[in-house]
This record gives sequence, structure tokens and C-alpha cells, in this order.
Amino acid sequence: MPNNPTKILLSMTLVGGILISISSNSWLGAWMGLEINLMSFIPLMTSQENIFTTEASLKYFVIQALASSVLMFLVMMKALMYQGFTMSNNIYEYVIMTPLLTKMGAAPMHWWFPSVMEGLSWVNCLLMMTIQSAAPMILMSYLMKINPLILTVVMLSVVVGSMGGMNQTSLRKILTYSSINHTGWMLMALLGGINLWVMYFAVYSMLTSAVTITAKLFNISFINQMMSTNEKSAVKFVLFTTLLSLGGLPPFIGFLPKWITIQMMIANNLSLTMTVMVITSLATLYYYLRMCYSSFIILHNETKWNPLMHKANKTSMHSIVLASMSMMGLIVCTMIVSIN
Ligand SMILES: *[C@@H]1O[C@H](CO)[C@@H](O)[C@H](O)[C@H]1NC(C)=O
Repeated sequence: MPNNPTKILLSMTLVGGILISISSNSWLGAWMGLEINLMSFIPLMTSQENIFTTEASLKYFVIQALASSVLMFLVMMKALMYQGFTMSNNIYEYVIMTPLLTKMGAAPMHWWFPSVMEGLSWVNCLLMMTIQSAAPMILMSYLMKINPLILTVVMLSVVVGSMGGMNQTSLRKILTYSSINHTGWMLMALLGGINLWVMYFAVYSMLTSAVTITAKLFNISFINQMMSTNEKSAVKFVLFTTLLSLGGLPPFIGFLPKWITIQMMIANNLSLTMTVMVITSLATLYYYLRMCYSSFIILHNETKWNPLMHKANKTSMHSIVLASMSMMGLIVCTMIVSIN
């Protein structure tokens, strides 16, 4: 919780906007909620200490305002030609999807995402990757059917997500591409129903917050900084387990939503899309492993003068709890299912 009254107010309206948007039963209300959410997030992004936030918030504002006005335009067009602002007959489902896809940063419209994320603080990165994409996705669920547009977007998202992170050294960029990838998977999960999506979203949010909190606490922005963290702190362990979990490796909890989504896709005869998604997720593990592996293998000497060292001596309880959830989660879940 922020300790500044303005920030508390803005966080409340941020969440309020999302709630308005997902609980409204007309497109006009949904649009209004998205707009309240945007107008609360922009001031939260800017900070006096960091000059990059100005650029990031400006870019974010322009893109989101563009998407909102397109959404407004399409909704009005639908209202004038068919019965009002209701969500019932989605005659325009293809076109109304596009501004929503832009807002959540799915693949052909993802170009703003990495450069905006690069300028943000870790907490704002976390908000951006998780709850900022929740409202557009729930609105998407009203329009979702298995159609060529959505399959293309999903495939492009997973390809961009896994290829884009390949040569990055910045942890923020890597997490952004991972977020684009998971957006693709979450859209696919949405086809299987809102329950599957909620499960995916919860697991994804937990894992991203584990990585983000750890990175913020230990001041890690680039992957070479992971190697020079203190041996005694559990930071390498935490990052290792949560990153592999984000990559969907079986003993970790990240595999659970992936597993169910794959099963759903097979049941719906989407094997081609599924093949693409599974193969790209294999390519992904390469760079997740590269991040973790080198930091375990490379021997490092501890310097006495590095001010970050002293700060990083204590281990954060949040990170440990989240990391153990990521490790034990799948085992616990499968045990609960097989016990009854
Ligand atoms: C994308 O998501 C899938 C499913 O969770 C995962 O297996 C894969 O490693 C992810 N790729 C990236 C870039 O995060």
C-alpha cells in the first residue's frame, strides 16, 4: 500500500475503474470504466526521481487514448445501426476486439509495450502486466468464439513472446515479452471459459509478482546483476524457481494452467495452434534457463564495497513464500485432486 494520500486515492479509482468496466452490462459503461482506470494509472506512473517515467506515461497515454477512442467510435456505430449499447448481439465482434487487443498488448499491437515498461518502476511494471490487462480480457470474453482472428492473435503473441525475449539483457524487457506470451495463452484460456482464465490469471499474477518483488528488493534490472547477488540470500533460488515456473516446467505451479489449457485445446480440435504454442514455449525455456543457469555456474567474488550487497543480505519473506508456492503448488493441487 502506498503511503501517499494521492496514490491511495488513485489506486482505489484504478481498481474501481476495472470493477465498473467488468460489471457493466453495456459497452458504454465498459468504456467508461476503462477510461477511469487509465486516468488513474497515468499519474501513478510518473515519478519525480525517474526521468524515464514521463516518456513512458506519455506513450502509454497516447496508445490507450487511441484505443479508447476507437472503441468508443465502434461502439457508437454499433449502437446507431443495431439495438443500442447492449452486449448481447455482437455483430461487430471482430472489430470491437481490436481496440481491446491493443489495450492489453497482444501481438500485432504490442509495439508500445516493451518501451513503456522499460521506463517504469517495478511496482508499476507489475500493475501493467497483471491488473491492467484484466479488464480488456474480461471484456474480450463477451466476444470470444473460435475464429481466425483470435487464433492468429494467439499464435502471433506466443511467437513474439518467445522470440522477442531471446537476446534481451534487461529483466524488464524479458518480463514484458513473457507477458505478451502469457496474454496469448490467456486469450486461449478464455476460449475454454472464464474459470480457466481466472485460474491462469491468478497463477500468472502470483509468479510475476514473485519475480518483480524480488527484483525490486534486490535492485536487479539486468541479467548480469543476478550473478552478483549475495550467496547467503535466497535470491538466486527464488528467481530460479519462479522463472522456470513462468516458463511452465512441470514440477512447478506454472505448469498447471498450461496443462489444462493444452487439454482444452485438444478437446476443441485446435491441435495446430497447440503445436505452435508448445514449440514456442520450448524455445522460451532456453532463455529462462540462460538467465538462471549462468548465475548458478559462474563463480563470483563478493566485493566488500558494493553498497547493494549489504542491503541484499536479508531475505524477503514475500519472495520466499511466493517461491515455495511456486514449487509446491502443483504437487499440492494434484494431491488434493487425487485424495478425494
Ligand atoms: C509462454 O507461456 C507458456 C505457458 O505457460 C510457457 O510454457 C512458455 O515458456 C512461456 N514463454 C514465455 C516467453 O514466457
